[in-house]
Amino acid sequence: MARPSHSTNPKQLRDRAASRSIAREEFARRRRQLMKAMGRDSIAIVPAAPVHLRNNDVEHAYRQDSNFHYLTGFREPESVAVLVPGRPQGEYLLFVRDRDPARETWDGRRAGPVGARRDFGADDAFPIGDIDDILPGLLENRAKVFYTVGVNRDFDQRVVGWVNGLRALAKHGRHAPYEMVALEHVLHEMRLFKSRAEIDLMREAARIAARAHVRAMRSCRPGMHEYEIQAEIEHEFRRARAEPSYLPIVGGGANGCILHYRENEAVLRAGELLLIDAGCEYECYASDITRTFPINGKFTKAQRALYDLVLEANRAAIAAVQPGNHWNLPHETAVQVLTAGLVRLGLLKGKVPALVKSLAYRRFYMHKTGHWLGMDVHDVGDYKIGDAWRVLEPGMVLTIEPGLYIPPGTRGVPAEFRNIGIRIEDDVLVTRDGHEVLTDGVPKEAREIEALMAAG
Ligand code: GLY
Ligand code: MN
Ligand code: MN
Repeated sequence: MARPSHSTNPKQLRDRAASRSIAREEFARRRRQLMKAMGRDSIAIVPAAPVHLRNNDVEHAYRQDSNFHYLTGFREPESVAVLVPGRPQGEYLLFVRDRDPARETWDGRRAGPVGARRDFGADDAFPIGDIDDILPGLLENRAKVFYTVGVNRDFDQRVVGWVNGLRALAKHGRHAPYEMVALEHVLHEMRLFKSRAEIDLMREAARIAARAHVRAMRSCRPGMHEYEIQAEIEHEFRRARAEPSYLPIVGGGANGCILHYRENEAVLRAGELLLIDAGCEYECYASDITRTFPINGKFTKAQRALYDLVLEANRAAIAAVQPGNHWNLPHETAVQVLTAGLVRLGLLKGKVPALVKSLAYRRFYMHKTGHWLGMDVHDVGDYKIGDAWRVLEPGMVLTIEPGLYIPPGTRGVPAEFRNIGIRIEDDVLVTRDGHEVLTDGVPKEAREIEALMAAG
């Protein structure tokens, strides 16, 4: 397999990283688009993600809420964005942590209200401590509040408190909003269609993760532990200013049959396969790749037969990613190919249409073939419109990830097919005339993988 054509030179990696991000104007365009959809009698309230404690005094790495980031590009916690269409003094308000030299010595730099205006385009910005005084006035005389209920319970209570506080003042002539609207209904539809700049970031996230998988294939040796391969992958992510978009799954042998395997602790054994499901997040945009390869660099005949079948399903499903096709067609295609192949190999018995109808394949393939991909690895966006699968359109990005899982002890299966878990997952952009596979920087043909591993 040809080496990926892009550079791995650290300076060039840094330069490229610096040149990629969403421009301020694009964030502004998103806010305008949202406000247009909301209408002038409304207000949107979007809180930043809370900080989560890992254990005593130790925080989880902070990840901004995707909706908040999508509208603001602002990275700090304890912030709230408010959009007030048509407000003469400014439509876009940010409440942020105030500057505080003592706190900044401990916890790091803050933009403060001045930075929120200067660097993030807020029309108005206030210290977060003032929000209880200011927000009721902004809610007044607005009919609808666009807000996502149920994600941040503490913040839900505050929103209800502000609205109820105004209601209680009705006899003093104050008008509270009378309708709560699910913000995500509008926003998630916007997020489903990726802009040019977003696609650029997703290509980069895919390139970085592809490099990480290539590195894993090159460094894998029998006797290593799953976590050592995880370390190789994470090294490749971090040196490119990316981080895991979910906990990497590094499962040797039977562990590859556990769909959300987390331990990553076992010793890797010659003769078994290694399934790695690992993607990264770059500037808040995710990739999600799975590759499966032989730990000693050479597939057995049975492994190869199942592998080639999953690859055939992967390729057929990717071919079904076309504008105008419905969402479920790639899955239906993968199921068809896998079922026919399982019959060919003698693992299912009967006629293919009947086996598809009776879901017989689910013994070996129990998950769906993909999901939307974007700022969240399982990204937002409806899969159905009413009762019908939604139609694929340019700008949507999805994963294609068929697999077969035959753990040790599976009954009615020849011994050579047991102890095998295989998944092959790619990230695919729907384009005007077809699709673009974002993750082709890592090989998936069995021969290519063997050649890469032999070269070390
Ligand atoms: N890595 C999670 C998934 O493939 O959906
Ligand atoms: Mn995955
Ligand atoms: Mn996935």
